[in-house]
Amino acid sequence: MNEIARFAISLLPVAAFLSLTGCNRQAAAPAEPPLAGATLGGPFALTDQDGKTVKDSDFAGKYRLIYFGYTFCPDVCPVSMQRLMQGYRLFEKANPEAAAKLQPLFVTVDPERDTPAALKQFVGNFHPKLIGLTGTPEQIAAVAKGYAVYYRKAGEPGAKDYLMDHSDVTYLMGPDGAPIALVPQDGTPQAIETVLAQWVK
Ligand code: NI
Repeated sequence: MNEIARFAISLLPVAAFLSLTGCNRQAAAPAEPPLAGATLGGPFALTDQDGKTVKDSDFAGKYRLIYFGYTFCPDVCPVSMQRLMQGYRLFEKANPEAAAKLQPLFVTVDPERDTPAALKQFVGNFHPKLIGLTGTPEQIAAVAKGYAVYYRKAGEPGAKDYLMDHSDVTYLMGPDGAPIALVPQDGTPQAIETVLAQWVK
């Protein structure tokens, strides 16, 4: 997998904001969220790990932590989810009230294999609040496009055990669905918690 490179490519449109995501808590908080005004997100209707329809509007009034990946991913996705949910747990411990306003979401880029049952097993490994989302290939293509997420089947055409190339990127979205910041899923749980604590109030 070449997910780091894909990640970099997928972020070219928002690269200008990247330098702001490393701010530490002592630095003056930027007046505006790093992703303010970025064209990211939008409405979706997908299916969760219990087979229930879930819409973006179901999270109105809640912050959302959203990551795109696939459950068969041999390396990057499980590690990213583990770090993200460790960071989220730190945030829950430090500020349970704010953490309760944040909904973590895992959206598959492999709807062909990621059935609700496959997602259920996967998300259960990381956090009880984590929601896994799948849909038709068209629904997934639409939501990925909205979030500027790249994905593509890799390997032999028609092979059953294919891999997916995909962006390794996490967005923090606001209670109104507008983008706030990138969350460093490749950083430490503490770095993840710092970003959450900075913006989720
Ligand atoms: Ni992956």
